[in-house]
Formats: sequence, C-alpha cells, structure tokens
Amino acid sequence: MAKLDINSKYRMNSGYEIPILGYGIYQTPADIAEDVVAHALATGYRHVDSATAYRNEAPSAAGIKRAGIPREQIFFTSKVPPRAINYKDAAKCVDETLSKTGLGYVDLYLLHAPYGGKQGRLGAWKALAEAVEAGKVRSIGVSNYGVHHLEELETYIKEVEEKEGKGKAGVLSVNQVELHPWLARPDIVQWCEKRGVLLEAYSPLVRSTRMDDERLVALSKKHNKTPAHILLRWSLQKKFVPLPKSVTKSRIEENANIYDFELSAEDMKSLETGEYSPCTWDPTTSKD
Ligand SMILES: NC(=O)c1ccc[n+]([C@@H]2O[C@H](COP(=O)([O-])OP(=O)(O)OC[C@H]3O[C@@H](n4cnc5c(N)ncnc54)[C@H](OP(=O)(O)O)[C@@H]3O)[C@@H](O)[C@H]2O)c1
Repeated sequence: MAKLDINSKYRMNSGYEIPILGYGIYQTPADIAEDVVAHALATGYRHVDSATAYRNEAPSAAGIKRAGIPREQIFFTSKVPPRAINYKDAAKCVDETLSKTGLGYVDLYLLHAPYGGKQGRLGAWKALAEAVEAGKVRSIGVSNYGVHHLEELETYIKEVEEKEGKGKAGVLSVNQVELHPWLARPDIVQWCEKRGVLLEAYSPLVRSTRMDDERLVALSKKHNKTPAHILLRWSLQKKFVPLPKSVTKSRIEENANIYDFELSAEDMKSLETGEYSPCTWDPTTSKD
C-alpha cells in the first residue's frame, strides 16, 4: 500500500479531502475537551470527531482555536443526534453547531443513527443536503447505517436525481460504524467500497477491552509496537478512517505513532476473527 503519514488524506465522494486519522471525543468531558483537542492538534491530528450528543462541540472548537492552526487545515465532524432524525430538527441542529462552534462551516455532518423511521431518516438527509447547498456544511454522511438503511438512502437519492438532476439529493461521502477485528462488517464494508463511500471506524481500540488478546499481543511483540498501534494499523490498512479516543495525553501521542511499520498480509489474516461482537450499541440492525 502507498506510504501513509499523519498528513495523509482520502478524497471523498463530495470532492473534499478527509485526514485519514481522526481524534474521537465521545465521553470526553466538556471541561477538558478544549485542552485535549488542543493537545491532539499539537501532536499532529487534524481531524476531530464530535457530535451534538457528546455535548462538547463548543469546547472542542475552543481547542481548535487555541491550537492556532488555520481553519482550512482542520477537519471537524458533528452529527444529528438520534432523537432529532427528522427534517426540522436536523436543520436546526446544523445551525446550532455553527453558532456553538463559530467554525464558519462544518467539514462533515452525519446522521448519528438510522432512527426516526423512513420519513425521519430521509427528511433529515434532505436537511443535510440543503445545508451543503447553503455552504454551512461541506460533506455529509451517515453513521450506524446497515445495508438496508444504505439502500433506502440510495434509492431516495436516485429518485430525486431522476427528477431534479445529479447531485440534487446530496452526496453520500461517509458511513461511520463500529469496526475492528471483532466486528469487521464485510457486508457494510463491501457496499460502501463499491460506491466510494468511506468507512470511518469508531471504537477502533475496542474501548480497550481486547488489549491482552493473544493475537494482538503476538503482533505487538513481533513489531515492537503496542496493541493499540496494531489495532489502528489494521484499520488504516483496511482503508478505514480510524477515530481513536483518549483523554490521556501520552495515549493521544501513542495513537498517532502508527506510520513507522506495516502489518503483512499474514498479520492481517491472523486478525480475521470472523466474530460479530460489538462493544457498544449497534443500530445497524434496527428494522423500523
Ligand atoms: N457514531 C457513533 O455511534 C459512535 C459510537 C462510538 C464512538 N464514536 C466515535 O469514535 C470514537 C472512538 O470510539 P470510542 O471512544 O468508543 O472507543 P475507542 O477509541 O476504541 O477506545 C477509547 C478507550 O480506549 C482507551 N485508550 C485510548 N488509547 C489507548 C491506548 N493507546 N492504550 C490503551 N487504552 C487506550 C481510552 O482511555 P482514555 O481516554 O482514558 O485514555 C478509552 O477508554 C469516539 O470518541 C467517537 O468520536 C462514534
């Protein structure tokens, strides 16, 4: 694979670029978010994954400003919360993020989960597409979408495009889902890859619950790297965009130190567990 470094980016279906390593801030308390985000940016991360539901958009934006890096070099994501997946609330949510953060625009806005029923989901998507037209948001996507949710959205986009023209119903750039060796989601990954939809890997460290797994420990010894490095490298080599979270400064640095080694095809194979073991919620299977 092409040599990656901390400045590597992928181009999304929207035409905009996304840094391939993100810094996740779920469960990062608001009173420390400014400090840890500024530390992550000083370490070299340029991509911050927030959400309305995390209640730390404003202090994260303060951390971005404190870091003193030009706005156009930063990639900031937020999400419409699960309880607001409908047209009106999604539109309001984007405006609130803009006023809370003062960032001028949001790089990526996602629907946090496929809730709200079909009408709610498609309405919320329409609101995001309009936010792009209005210059409030650059790229849009979804999170926790299973293949059946993705197909519903694709059908809607095609129907609108037939009537109104290409790009008129928004461009799907990202699906953010839990992804790691114990949840490799081949069905969702294949669907997205076929359409150039990038996969963002959340909980890429499996919330630190598998660090003593023997396969990880063996690779860790082989490469003289930590189990966290092995997990993040697995994610990068799958062409995902991993979003490791840490509030610990030494770990923020550790998690960015993943560009000086490569897992072999055999190493990658040793991490094929075939398991379907989410470490958190799993809305991808929701049926309504
Ligand atoms: N869209 C969604 O529904 C969704 C759901 C979950 C997560 N996410 C996104 O994905 C991000 C990451 O997921 P996550 O927070 O669930 O889990 P994660 O990144 O897999 O794991 C975070 C946990 O691992 C610990 N940790 C971090 N670096 C470590 C290291 N090098 N060695 C050992 N332990 C380490 C952290 O501890 P400390 O913080 O104490 O250092 C924290 O307890 C979130 O912050 C969020 O941005 C999205």
